[in-house]
Amino acid sequence: QDRIMLGPLVAAIDQGTSSTRFLVFNAKTAELLSHHQVEIKQSFPKEGWVEEDPKEILQSVYECMDKTCEKLTQLNIDISNIKAIGVTNQRETTIVWDKETGEPLYNAIVWLDLRTQSTVERLINKTPGRNKNHLKHKTGLPISTYFSAVKLRWLMDNVDEVSEAIHSHKAMFGTVDSWLIWCLTGGKNGGVHCTDVTNASRTMLFNIHTLDWDPELCSYFGIPMEVLPKVRSSSEIYGLMKISSSVKSGSLTGIPISGCLGDQSAALVGQMCFQDGQAKNTYGTGCFLLRNTGPKPVMSDHGLLTTIAYQLGRDKPACYALEGSVAIAGAVVRWLKDNLGIIQTLSELEKLAAAVGTSYGCYFVPAFSGLYAPYWEPSARGIICGLTQFTNRSHIAFAALEAVCFQTRELMDAMNQDSGIPLTQLQVDGGMTSNRLLMQLQADILCIPVVKPSMPETTALGAAMAAGSAEGVSVWSLNLEDLSEVTSEKFEPQINPEESEFRYARWKKAVQKCMNWET
Ligand code: G3P
Repeated sequence: QDRIMLGPLVAAIDQGTSSTRFLVFNAKTAELLSHHQVEIKQSFPKEGWVEEDPKEILQSVYECMDKTCEKLTQLNIDISNIKAIGVTNQRETTIVWDKETGEPLYNAIVWLDLRTQSTVERLINKTPGRNKNHLKHKTGLPISTYFSAVKLRWLMDNVDEVSEAIHSHKAMFGTVDSWLIWCLTGGKNGGVHCTDVTNASRTMLFNIHTLDWDPELCSYFGIPMEVLPKVRSSSEIYGLMKISSSVKSGSLTGIPISGCLGDQSAALVGQMCFQDGQAKNTYGTGCFLLRNTGPKPVMSDHGLLTTIAYQLGRDKPACYALEGSVAIAGAVVRWLKDNLGIIQTLSELEKLAAAVGTSYGCYFVPAFSGLYAPYWEPSARGIICGLTQFTNRSHIAFAALEAVCFQTRELMDAMNQDSGIPLTQLQVDGGMTSNRLLMQLQADILCIPVVKPSMPETTALGAAMAAGSAEGVSVWSLNLEDLSEVTSEKFEPQINPEESEFRYARWKKAVQKCMNWET
């Protein structure tokens, strides 16, 4: 049979906390042609620790590439039409590897991990006025367990292989984007060691004004600058794919990797939030509300982060965003399944919660990794309260969904206070948005409409757009305005604002109960 000629295609690797995907889009229409997804194992070696295996992460990318290419072949679509590959990834997750052997020197320490809590407390205690925002003027971030610098410091202090490799100048540090790009462009045989500005802005070593690693920040954390990757824009050719021919996706060899964005930045791009003031909220393992603030960084007075939204080309200006980060969103569903066993599959949650349609006064604050925005309180711990003899697993399921919505409401309130211009509707994306009950609850709790795009893979689309429009590739011929008019689904608030405020006030009370748990 003849191969279907569709014109140029653009692919994206979407390496998230819970799963990896490889997706192929038509560069003329943004139509998603084929994709494959593989779940990633997480290990919890001690309370509060969260690790993943960097080699399993890489293997999952190969597997997704193989399966996606197979599916394209079955559709009679020629793989040689793939002209560029973008990378988008879970941010902050920290990997150190040996550049001579290509071997990781420890598991990836996942962004959610709390092992650095005492280091963070020590650092904050040392700052004038015990100020967690001591480095914010340069980084846009509070000192927190969340960011890579403290994880790298922990590795240097606790893993002999890491300190020895640093000592003998063999260590490379990277977030997941750097690890993957290095491996996919040749690894120990000449792989490219780089990252993009969006990922770099999550390390606490990067100056968001000068757009470069900051020697003062590096010396503050005692990190040698030679281990850091080179910082590039989010859209340029970093290198060419070089995969051993033993891997089926070896046929992707020679294709430029030309887009790189942290996943929340990629979703902002994929949702076409290019104008100052446009915002999106992504429901993944965590939940992240980003508002584009244009070419100047805006510092938050209400617990939000200032971060790089994107820089779409070497000579283009960087665009900034205010970000509200919630650590636990989809992760609470996985917890209900794996730890409590009250659901067998993730999709059961909606049915269970819908069966009661209320939490019956039960509130669940899933502060498993402390609380992120707007509190930044690492010592907070999860709490389920308001229980009576009447409470059953359906009410707890409902309370878990409501928790995701209340946390988003806190982000939106902070965002509205910082910008002075309230959001009038919320653009959403991410895995949990297929839960219609959650979306309706979200509109009810925000008291504004929630709008969901018909193509849910906006994170991957953002990375594919960056890759396909890079200088030297330029195959992305889509009119962005056409795409922003793609059909979407709108959820209007259905309860009265007083009812919504009452529930939100109760949530706030529950949050106060989970603070300073260990003291
Ligand atoms: O900052 C962490 C974030 O990038 C993780 O995203 O989609 O894996 O929850 P996700």
